Amino acid sequence: MTSTVQPFPPEAEPPPGQAFRDAMAQVASAVHVVTTIGPAGRVGMTATAVASVSDAPPTVLVCIERSSRTLAAIEASGVFCVNTLPGDLVGTAEIFANRRGLQGEERFAAGDWGTLVTGSPALRDALAAFDCRLVASHDIATHRVLVGEVAGLGGAGRGGSLIYRRRQFEAV
Ligand SMILES: Cc1cc2nc3c(=O)[nH]c(=O)nc-3n(C[C@H](O)[C@H](O)[C@H](O)COP(=O)(O)O)c2cc1C
Repeated sequence: MTSTVQPFPPEAEPPPGQAFRDAMAQVASAVHVVTTIGPAGRVGMTATAVASVSDAPPTVLVCIERSSRTLAAIEASGVFCVNTLPGDLVGTAEIFANRRGLQGEERFAAGDWGTLVTGSPALRDALAAFDCRLVASHDIATHRVLVGEVAGLGGAGRGGSLIYRRRQFEAV
């Protein structure tokens, strides 16, 4: 019988961070832009660490690196919106991942942005937008896990998905 799973060497326990990142690079993830509204205007960042938690009440979680400016703004406002990107918005994903050198309001210059219930920016062309109130947060290692109760839904629900896999964006 052949094995398709290559184990890490037993001496390397726990696996080193690079090996973990290489393994995670094989996981295809939907790409989202997480936004909020702050005293200095709109802020947002690209995130793949997003998951559904429950439908009663509708609840999602987002994992954000603790040094993120978006995280600080979400904790100040108590609200955020998860915008799931369609396949043709690679440029938006790059802008909000800080690959074009744009910050704060500058990141919102492209795209048709509005609001739903909480005042957080919602992208009209998103596949789906989950407008949330922050209900819990928990520190794990380098990140903070934010739990949001969904207060409103938006998005166009049209087009393919944008995924991130093997360190590249891909429209599927
Ligand atoms: C495909 C992709 C996915 C990302 N996912 C996350 C994520 O889930 N959580 C996170 O903290 N950062 C993630 N990042 C990094 C942030 O988008 C990046 O650090 C951003 O500049 C943070 O902006 P801010 O400091 O203005 O909040 C991701 C980057 C890319 C390219």
